[in-house]
Amino acid sequence: MSQELVQTANALVAKGKGILAADESFPTIAKRFKSIGLESTENNRRDYRHMLFTAPDFSNYVSGVILFDETLRQEGPDGKRLAEVLTENGVIPGIKVDKGAKALAGFPGETVTEGLDGLRDRLKEYYDLGARFAKWRAVIDIAPGIPTQYCLEANAHGLARYAALCQEAGIVPIVEPEVLMDGDHDLARCQQVTEAALTAVFAQLNAHNVLLEGMLLKPNMVISGKKAANRADVDGVAAATVATLKRCVPAAVPGIVFLSGGQSSVEATAHLDAMNKIGDLPWALSFSYGRALQEDALKAWQGQAGNVASAQSVFTHRAKMNGAAAVGAYSANMEQAS
Ligand code: 13P
Repeated sequence: MSQELVQTANALVAKGKGILAADESFPTIAKRFKSIGLESTENNRRDYRHMLFTAPDFSNYVSGVILFDETLRQEGPDGKRLAEVLTENGVIPGIKVDKGAKALAGFPGETVTEGLDGLRDRLKEYYDLGARFAKWRAVIDIAPGIPTQYCLEANAHGLARYAALCQEAGIVPIVEPEVLMDGDHDLARCQQVTEAALTAVFAQLNAHNVLLEGMLLKPNMVISGKKAANRADVDGVAAATVATLKRCVPAAVPGIVFLSGGQSSVEATAHLDAMNKIGDLPWALSFSYGRALQEDALKAWQGQAGNVASAQSVFTHRAKMNGAAAVGAYSANMEQAS
């Protein structure tokens, strides 16, 4: 069992590859589709994801895709299960298993992620449906007086319970404590909160006997708030993020796959590339982007069958740029080249 976990975790962060997060819940995909004036129907969701999963050559840069429950069970227009489309292409299917961030009683403005009840049985079923890794996202907001230490610990506890249950089922847990980039806080404040969050998470992972070699961490980058007066530049973000991760993440963890969290597509690529250019890192540093991988392709698609081929090439291009960034081989002029 632990050998399978270690193998899957390492395959997900194979050289020059990362993860596509395509696990938008019903409300989130509805929001994304609204931006192109498209209704979120079962068929539109299917067609959109089928377009992404059949994009030529994207599997050269994408090792795994995180799916939503509906998608893991869904068949493409040709009657083949979407998870099978991925597997046949050498891409590992994953599954979002949390049930969302809910208000934390007694702590106004803070949330705790739910979904542990019945998780053991759901994981068994997901394994049978082909999922080999999973995701659970905890959300930490920065604002005056928050996050509290209690919020960090409650979320870390949930992440560790989830991670232990995943490993019991032969599924690699992606542990995602996301410190949001909303707000006007500076880089130093993001760094302080991210360090506190990661410290709490690894204390709980160790307490729950989670095998570090058989998991991946999905953190935010250490970045200025979106509304900060002076936002840190690419090198500033890269240096602060690498310093924080070195302080908090044991070398036994095979890989760290960032979320994009509201960064633009190119910004997310440039940041990842700058970190890998620093070099001398004990873990693979790669991506598990949702918006930063999909935004351009969604715009190119517009819900039109006639746009599938051009949307697919936009998607593969973005994946290729991030594949290069995952080994520190990206440069801005590559944006025009392919
Ligand atoms: P973003 O890259 O859009 O932040 O999404 C990644 C993700 O999976 C968040 O849970």
